[in-house]
Amino acid sequence: MTTTSSEGVRAGAATDAVLEVDGLGVEFPTEDGIVRAVRGVGYRLGPGDSLGIVGESGSGKSVTATAVMGLLPATAKVRGSVRFEGTELLGLSDARLSDIRGKGIAMIFQDPMTSLNPVYTVGYQIAETLQRHHPDMKTREARVRAVDLLGTVGIPGPERRVDSYPHELSGGMRQRVVIAIAMANDPDVIIADEPTTALDVTVQAQILDALETARAETGAALVLITHDLGVVAGHTDRVAVMYAGRIVETGSVEDIFYAPRMPYTLGLLGSLPRLDREEERLTPISGSPPSLLNLPPGCPFAPRCPMRRDVCDRDEPPLRPAGRDGHLSACHFAEDLVGTGAEQVFDAVGADSEALARFADATSTGNREEDSV
Ligand SMILES: Nc1ncnc2c1ncn2[C@@H]1O[C@H](COP(=O)(O)OP(=O)(O)OP(=O)(O)O)[C@@H](O)[C@H]1O
Ligand code: SF4
Ligand SMILES: [Mg+2]
Repeated sequence: MTTTSSEGVRAGAATDAVLEVDGLGVEFPTEDGIVRAVRGVGYRLGPGDSLGIVGESGSGKSVTATAVMGLLPATAKVRGSVRFEGTELLGLSDARLSDIRGKGIAMIFQDPMTSLNPVYTVGYQIAETLQRHHPDMKTREARVRAVDLLGTVGIPGPERRVDSYPHELSGGMRQRVVIAIAMANDPDVIIADEPTTALDVTVQAQILDALETARAETGAALVLITHDLGVVAGHTDRVAVMYAGRIVETGSVEDIFYAPRMPYTLGLLGSLPRLDREEERLTPISGSPPSLLNLPPGCPFAPRCPMRRDVCDRDEPPLRPAGRDGHLSACHFAEDLVGTGAEQVFDAVGADSEALARFADATSTGNREEDSV
């Protein structure tokens, strides 16, 4: 997986990508003005690659995924490019897109009931998905495969459960059914949008395992969307952090967790409980993301950023290389974060300006540790 951006930064060598998103922009005209929901998002997935897309509510994660699937409302204005195995999807007819949905790219939504029809058994719904892309498949054969798929995603007694209606299953079991449907036609890409958010922690882990199984069985590339940075660790190879409709940092999981180069990412990391520390001390980011209506100039994170300087209010930073190959950051002062922890940056929030000045001094004297990765 490599990440591209509207600014033309392209990290890593070009591979035979299954999914390439480039300069993706989505605007919604509304009564109050234009909502710029996605602003120049780009990424590239090779076969079997995995990317976690992380960001707070409203950062544009779902709109990005919905644009890739061609499921945005007709009023949305979309620009850029989404290529699946080299075919441009933006502007493709509904009929061609339906061919690609499910078979080429499968999507898993947060709420399983969005995908499941309450009036049909889960077995019928899996069989229907199979037969849509394989019209010659006999009903008996489709049922056998449905039982098989239910077993693969960890549903106990699949021979019985195949005849259950969605309401007869728990939330976790329903999400497993949705994963079974997603893997039914052996897709090349699975996009999972907050697949575990509505579930309790134990079930979350089981669903992530079922997703891993689906990936292993199909060899599909995975886009895992979540607001929780903790979820991507161990489940994706790369991470893209979104803020105000853009990717503001991207890199390998190691880059993002051990050498972040964007204060926002540092803030997200500082909000994660650390099991390796005896005294757990969280440093949450204060404030909330900006409205995407009439976004002011400059860095959208500036109102919440303890490292903000004058240039930040003027110029929005481009996404640019900021570490090892493929590690990009959209911060004017990415290099100042080398060897810095969330406590050092975010303790300054709400503190007096002296604390902030001390931090700025310390970073500008070059008195920093070397990059830990
Ligand atoms: N149909 C629409 N019309 C107008 N604005 C929209 C529409 N759909 C989404 N938006 C806006 O686009 C922005 C991005 O929304 P999106 O759903 O992608 O956020 P998200 O990152 O998925 O958040 P969450 O974590 O809450 O799911 C939000 O400001 C949202 O209000
Ligand atoms: S560009 Fe400025 S305001 Fe934006 S994250 Fe970097 S230091 Fe903070
Ligand atoms: Mg969403």
